[in-house]
Parts: sequence; structure tokens; C-alpha cells
Amino acid sequence: MTNLILLGPPGSGKGTQGERLEVELSLPRLSTGDMLREAVKKGTDLGRQVEPIMKSGSLVPDEVVVEIIAERIGQADCGKGFILDGFPRTIPQAEALEAMLTEKGTAVTGVLNIAVPDQVLIDRCVGRRLCSNKECGAIYHVKSNPPAQDNVCDRCGSELLHRSDDRAEAVEERLRNYHRQTEPLEDFYSSRGLLHEVDGVGSPHEVFERTLEALRGVSGGCCE
Ligand code: AP5
Ligand code: MG
Repeated sequence: MTNLILLGPPGSGKGTQGERLEVELSLPRLSTGDMLREAVKKGTDLGRQVEPIMKSGSLVPDEVVVEIIAERIGQADCGKGFILDGFPRTIPQAEALEAMLTEKGTAVTGVLNIAVPDQVLIDRCVGRRLCSNKECGAIYHVKSNPPAQDNVCDRCGSELLHRSDDRAEAVEERLRNYHRQTEPLEDFYSSRGLLHEVDGVGSPHEVFERTLEALRGVSGGCCE
């Protein structure tokens, strides 16, 4: 089993690198942010509960995301492992993950911590555009990775969206929450010998090369 976690602040490239890794490793990428946004889009009870929280840049309650992930990692496509993108992001979530994996006789095999300075992150989030088609989910940036035609996905032709939490004030709130609630996970996983640092500044290709390099240190990782 290869059970990876992508750790890193908003806009650090978890989605961008995660998309590449899922192809490279043939493992599903499980993004709690994508799952929650899908619930909001569909207008489910869960979606109505989390929409204002996400829009403000706060974290949704631990028990909500723990339940989503517990259900998701039990599905058949996670039989050889998975890549978690955006979960866990609090110590209680990390402890809940540890407990649910122990129960299945497995464990986290590696944590890739993508580091990018705050001032770069705000620009990345504010300029981000996302494909509205869930099956595609391509990620663009108006400056560093623009689509060929404004607001149209190069891959599937669907409309591109600007996330409601990608306004500058919400990004700043997300960054504050990251430093306060999620950064302590670096020590949590470092003390377990699982943390691998990745410098997230550079082109997406350069960062991917560093990600593969970091993965060579992960037991059951990849990439000869
Ligand atoms: P989530 O969707 O997980 O957002 P996030 O963690 O804030 O991270 P992002 O998706 O913003 O950034 P990313 O690292 O994926 O960057 P990307 O690759 O897109 O969560 C959203 C919300 O949901 C949370 O705020 C919370 O409310 C809730 N939530 C989710 N999980 C939760 C949990 N576990 N507990 C509680 N609440 C939870 O890249 C960003 C931009 O930069 C793109 O435009 C991209 O093209 C560009 N880019 C990427 N790499 C590079 C590069 N190397 N150079 C230049 N540009 C780049
Ligand atoms: Mg993301």
C-alpha cells in the first residue's frame, strides 16, 4: 500500500502536483476540498452546511471531513492506496486517520510538504481558474498557466470558474488558519519519520521533479 498525504498551504500546488502524481502512481487523489465543493454545487444538506464556512476561509468541522474520508478510503479504488490532498489539516484529523488506517492494518507511508512563501500563495489563489466539469477538474492560472481561450477549458471545453474562497481576504484568512491549525502537522509527521520537504517555488514541472525525488525516500513510494 502507498498512502500519501500532500501537505501545504492554500495555493502551494497540492492539486497541481496531485493530478500528476495520480497518473504517475496509478492511485486515486482524494481532495476533501473538491468533495466539499461538489456537495455545495449539488445543494445537498452537507453542501448547505459547509458553504458559508468555506467561503469565509475557515475549516469545516473535523467530524464532517473525517466521516467523508472514512467512507471514501473504504471504496474499491483505494485498495492499493491513495493520495490525500487537503486532509488531514488538524491534529484531531491526523489522529482519526491514524486510527482508521490502523484498523485496516495499514498506515500513512509518506507526507510530502510543499513549501511556498505566503506572498506567492496569495497571487496564485487570486489568479486561479478551475474547470467546472468535475470529471476534468483542470487547474489554470491567469498569468502562469492561462487557457488558450479566456474562461474555456483547453481539455474539455467547459467553462472555467473562480473559487468563492479565492478572493484576497478569504485567502489571507485561509493562510492564517493554515499556520495556526495545519502547520503543527509538520511536527506530528516529522516525529513519525514520515515528513518529506518539497520546495514548491519554480515551474509546476520543476516542482514535480522534486516531488518524485522526495518520493524516492518513501517506503513503497515510486519511481525508478
Ligand atoms: P482546499 O480545496 O483543499 O483548498 P486549499 O488547501 O486552501 O488549497 P488549494 O486548493 O487552494 O491550493 P492547492 O495547494 O491545491 O493549489 P493548486 O494546485 O490549485 O480546501 C478548500 C476549503 O475546504 C478549506 O478552506 C476548508 O474550508 C474546506 N476543507 C477542505 N479540506 C478540509 C479539511 N480537511 N478540514 C477542514 N476543512 C476542509 O494551485 C493554485 C494555483 O497556483 C493554480 O492557479 C495553479 O495553476 C498555480 N500553480 C500551482 N503550482 C504552481 C507553480 N509551481 N508555479 C506557478 N503557479 C502554480
Ligand atoms: Mg487544491
